Amino acid sequence: MINQLRVKQRDEYYSLEVESGSNLLDVLRRENYFIETPCGGRGVCGKCRVTVNGQTALACQTVIDRDMLVELQNEEKTDILMTGISVQGVLDGTHLYVMAFDIGTTTIVGYLMNGISGELLTQVSSLNPQKAYGADVISRIQYAITTDAEELRKMICGTLLELLNEAAKSVKIKTDEIALVSIVGNTAMHHLLLGIDVKSLITPPYMPKVYEAVELAMQKLFSEHTEGVVRILPNIAGFVGADTVGCLVATRFDHLKKMTLLIDIGTNGEMVLGNWQRRIACSTAAGPAFEGANIQCGMRGQKGAIDHVEVQDGKLVFHVIGGGVAKGFCGSGLLDLVASLLQIGEIDGSGRLMNGKEYRLSDTDVYLTQKDVREVQLAKAAIRAGIELLTKKIGISISKIEKVYLAGAFGNYMNPKSACLIGMIPICLLDRIEGIGNAAGEGAKLCALSKTEYEYSKILASETEFLELASLTEFQDVFVDSLKFTEENDEYL
Ligand code: FES
Repeated sequence: MINQLRVKQRDEYYSLEVESGSNLLDVLRRENYFIETPCGGRGVCGKCRVTVNGQTALACQTVIDRDMLVELQNEEKTDILMTGISVQGVLDGTHLYVMAFDIGTTTIVGYLMNGISGELLTQVSSLNPQKAYGADVISRIQYAITTDAEELRKMICGTLLELLNEAAKSVKIKTDEIALVSIVGNTAMHHLLLGIDVKSLITPPYMPKVYEAVELAMQKLFSEHTEGVVRILPNIAGFVGADTVGCLVATRFDHLKKMTLLIDIGTNGEMVLGNWQRRIACSTAAGPAFEGANIQCGMRGQKGAIDHVEVQDGKLVFHVIGGGVAKGFCGSGLLDLVASLLQIGEIDGSGRLMNGKEYRLSDTDVYLTQKDVREVQLAKAAIRAGIELLTKKIGISISKIEKVYLAGAFGNYMNPKSACLIGMIPICLLDRIEGIGNAAGEGAKLCALSKTEYEYSKILASETEFLELASLTEFQDVFVDSLKFTEENDEYL
């Protein structure tokens, strides 16, 4: 049997005939509608909400069994972090046009540069199209294993090619003139891009199948591109990938005199502690809470998101991106909100909301649930446990950390004080925190401009030790201890 489906988005209608019994989400994806599905279609995140014949419904849980009018929410533009610390690198000067990509789980950023002068000509970005198969790397890996890894590979290659074309067009050159591309990304993005089996990433001992830097002909990734080379930076461990190596390149980590902690909080939290003498990396399952997933009113950092909250005269004051009505909060807003509620005593040290199951921000439909607070506690405890165990492994106390680099979008937008108030980062480090933006992208840029930098990335990766937190007997205890909102911060609240 056939049903009529009418899809409405931004006052435009599109009609099609659909086999009765089809899943609505599958059909919408097939027709190239972008639907947020952080939980990968398991019916738990609530983010794939659409309106079906006037009623709210989850697209992933809806079977098309009648004629339907499906109304989609309008997509807002997301701000994507493109800039990072600026480093003077060595220039090969071999190619006139080179491009660097940072493939994140959520976003992809590309930088087109003049390979002779090192000048940045243009930068382009896009959401990662694989987002349709889950917000976090685990959902993507599961989709790749159980359903179709090739589909994910084609998606990412397609988007990279679109970005190459877009960048070339904007500076009025042919895409073919881009002779070299360098790429960083986490291990899952790395393996999916290269068509490498991702099973090893989620099976003990959780290691990548390929660690080494990979150099290949551009044609292997983009069949239209006849000439050119792609450099993909190496991985360090299962969830410490080429993006972390990019950060190490950009910060010249092996030359740092000060004991430095680098934290990249995304859907995972990667950390490196050390200096010129020794470096140890670890990854924590921080989860995508700070990217707005699994949070009732969570959303990306786009128009309508509360991105900043603070306490003024005992009351909460907040800022909405783009002004207007608050629709939810993004990661930095969520972090601030929890820190502010701790300050005014609406959340206690154990994480309990003091006045019922949710806290509603006045004059809005935006609220924080008890479950949301628990998600934040899990994320922050994972990061904090990583910091505690890394310092122990390197044999210093936390107060001996002299510098904290926060990399990545969340690290860039979040208020460090809030991160310290909730105990994610030890409060004694507050005045040592410095945001370094998209350092992974900066590392990729350096490696696109120079073979020497690319070789340097290999040395940094091979000389960085890895600490597998889950294998440590004390991990569970440290993690559980880190769940509470620590008393050490009381004097600041
Ligand atoms: S509830 Fe449908 S994708 Fe999460």
